[in-house]
Amino acid sequence: MQGRAAQRRAAWRLAPEPRRIPPSAFFDRAMRFFRLDASGGCETLRAAGTAAVTSCLMSDHLLSEYIGSLLGSRRPGFALPGAFFSDARVFAADLELIFARHWLFLASEAEIPEAGDYRTYQIGPYPIFIVRQDDGSLAAFHNTCRHRGSRILQQETGVVGAKIVCPYHRWTYDTAGKVIDCGPGGDVTLARGLQLKRVHLKNLAGLLFVCLADEPPEDFADLAAQMTPYLDPHALPRTRVAKQIDLIEHGNWKLTIENNRECFHCGGHPELLNSLFHFLGDISEDALSQEERSVYRRYEAARELSLASWKRAGVPWERIEVLHGRQTGFRAERLVLEGSGESMTADTRVACTRLLGSLTERRLGTLHLHVQPNAWFHFLSDHILTFCVLPIDRERTLVRTTWLVHADAEEGKDYDVDNLTRVWVATNNQDAQFVEETQRGTASPEYVPGPLSATEFMVDMFHRWYDERMRAGLKV
Ligand code: FES
Ligand SMILES: [Fe+2]
Repeated sequence: MQGRAAQRRAAWRLAPEPRRIPPSAFFDRAMRFFRLDASGGCETLRAAGTAAVTSCLMSDHLLSEYIGSLLGSRRPGFALPGAFFSDARVFAADLELIFARHWLFLASEAEIPEAGDYRTYQIGPYPIFIVRQDDGSLAAFHNTCRHRGSRILQQETGVVGAKIVCPYHRWTYDTAGKVIDCGPGGDVTLARGLQLKRVHLKNLAGLLFVCLADEPPEDFADLAAQMTPYLDPHALPRTRVAKQIDLIEHGNWKLTIENNRECFHCGGHPELLNSLFHFLGDISEDALSQEERSVYRRYEAARELSLASWKRAGVPWERIEVLHGRQTGFRAERLVLEGSGESMTADTRVACTRLLGSLTERRLGTLHLHVQPNAWFHFLSDHILTFCVLPIDRERTLVRTTWLVHADAEEGKDYDVDNLTRVWVATNNQDAQFVEETQRGTASPEYVPGPLSATEFMVDMFHRWYDERMRAGLKV
């Protein structure tokens, strides 16, 4: 007698005969992303492997049921089963149900500073761009021409004039996205009323978030209301990019996020530990080792000094933790730093002597913010770090790190780029190695998810959020 789970597995393994599958938004988009053809057999061109070949034979219903059963196999308080990192069907569902339906951090205002500046992004199958319009406002559009669909802006970053021209047949748009010309000999009357499709865009104190859904999560307003007082003192709109580095981690995006949600592994970050106390959440001194206790005493002394600075500067520090139970999960906390307590540098001193905004206190620790699913941030007195995570395929993830300093800070006088970036360049490379090795290890048929420790509570919260959001999307 087969159990229900075994029956389900059998159901998707013994997939229906190849047939033309009725179009459905979710399945159709997954198919197109993986460039699979349901009627004429499957062709794997990019990320899809054997598992995706099976998926092209599955109906939308079976796909939902399969992923629902995987979610059901997750053991709360344990690492995720390997399919969540390696299965092409799960990855397709992640793109559609997580990345196409939630608010995503893409850039800060300083990355698109002048009218006409734009940046392009690829979010799963969706090419989009953000452009600064003539009136100084920012807008986001799907980067797909209303004529025959070419990507219009084809560089990662650039400048458009008063018009945006598709290079293919020269259809032309104004910066509000309206078609104003249909190229040489083109009949503009045919394009009457056509516009580039808008993407929802929110500017949170200089952080730019987009949402691809028609109806984006409304709880972003609550995030904005709670976080604006924390972010405003760091004056992000008055910064400029000192350095930006793209790193491709050879692992699934969930491993990148999980890795960021715990400091259990921080022993592997010697440069970071110069400045970061690895205490997060509520600390029970009894649970600490002898060695940790001496660090904890140092932490308590540093916390008193830091609290005095925070009060003088009038900056908030209280923890906000709403990482699950809502669409836009987030967590913020101002963390005490080691040594001088000033910055996340090798010597714990500020890297930029021109402090942000009108701040005068150097010892502000780091205001740490996570926003699910794809971002984390450090706001210090002298610089800001943003981290944007975008899946490339199921086993590769882009991590874009940006260092921002006061707009008037001068390189060589107020800061040295190498000193500013050294700690996080080393930390990112170490994290990339952790993620890559975990991807390879969890792909083993012999991998069995192990238990999370108390210090990994945020990994558990991320899993809960992911489970909630996937179930909501799949309606299972
Ligand atoms: S596809 Fe853009 S002008 Fe033809
Ligand atoms: Fe790390």
